[in-house]
Amino acid sequence: MSIEQLESIAQAMVAPGKGIIAIDESTNTIKKRFDAVGVANTEENRRAYREMLLTTPQLHQHISGAILYDETIRQATQAGVPFTKVMLEAGILPGIKVDKGPQPLAGFPGEVVTEGLDGLRERLNEYVKLGAKFAKWRAVITIGEDMPSGTCIEANCHALARYAALCQEAGLVPMVEPEVLMDGEHDIEVCYDVTEATLRSLFGSLYEHNVMLEGTILKASMVVSGKSCPEQAGVEEVAEATIRCLKAAVPALLPGIVFLSGGQSDEQATAHLNAMNQMGPHPWPLSFSYGRAMQQAALKLWAKDMKGNFAEAQKIVAQRARENGLAALGQWQKAA
Ligand code: 13P
Repeated sequence: MSIEQLESIAQAMVAPGKGIIAIDESTNTIKKRFDAVGVANTEENRRAYREMLLTTPQLHQHISGAILYDETIRQATQAGVPFTKVMLEAGILPGIKVDKGPQPLAGFPGEVVTEGLDGLRERLNEYVKLGAKFAKWRAVITIGEDMPSGTCIEANCHALARYAALCQEAGLVPMVEPEVLMDGEHDIEVCYDVTEATLRSLFGSLYEHNVMLEGTILKASMVVSGKSCPEQAGVEEVAEATIRCLKAAVPALLPGIVFLSGGQSDEQATAHLNAMNQMGPHPWPLSFSYGRAMQQAALKLWAKDMKGNFAEAQKIVAQRARENGLAALGQWQKAA
């Protein structure tokens, strides 16, 4: 695939007023989400839940793509239509999570490095055959006493760069996700410093590995106060700090940046994105790639009576997509 083709996929992912729905929870992670609402973590329940999300009427109006998990990209609707077919026909790009999750970083207690590079070329080629157009790899950076170490940042960014280069070789747009966790008592300044150092390291590694930025999307965490910090930064402060940090570390050539929600409430995630876009224009489109902030309200409702609440849950998915789509344009208004 040519760089022009990768570039046009990347641009479609961040088309005006559109963003991504992340439904790539691993079987372990979806268990946590299902446990919280009393749903058994069976393959059929996972399939039925993801069918509800992916067949939401008019989803494509505000959703450009969905990130799937290995199991999900092989699944189909109850009527037997592969999810990827449903998506491509609706104009929603199939994405795939390809990392194998974070593992303890030897020699650095409390820190993790994301694994999954072994055999990745072959797995990517298979995902392309299954219909994937982009891929995601999530690195996790933890803030704590003497953390993150430079070694942790470097090891994770090196892996992200190797993954991204393999994606482009296979014809997939890499979504590179270095998530700085919200957990901790640190203030927003600390989050700013760690996020800037991580992004600088990431773009240095991408450059060293000949990754073409024109065909790459950044999935970033916002610059926020630690979850347990007594002083919580407000919406304007988060938006201003996040923009400043991105401008300091992310090349303007990148086609777009999408954010993860990382444990923010639905309203916070939408309000932050909206505030950032109201401060524009910026060098890149800023949109969303939310998991929890797109799904949690719909999951709660669906879980009460899976079949009976199918259409009602879809209305909530559509509503969250619309709100975040408006926020991607800086046109969202908080409900009175
Ligand atoms: P959250 O929006 O729930 O953080 O999930 C996004 C994601 O894909 C994390 O990898």
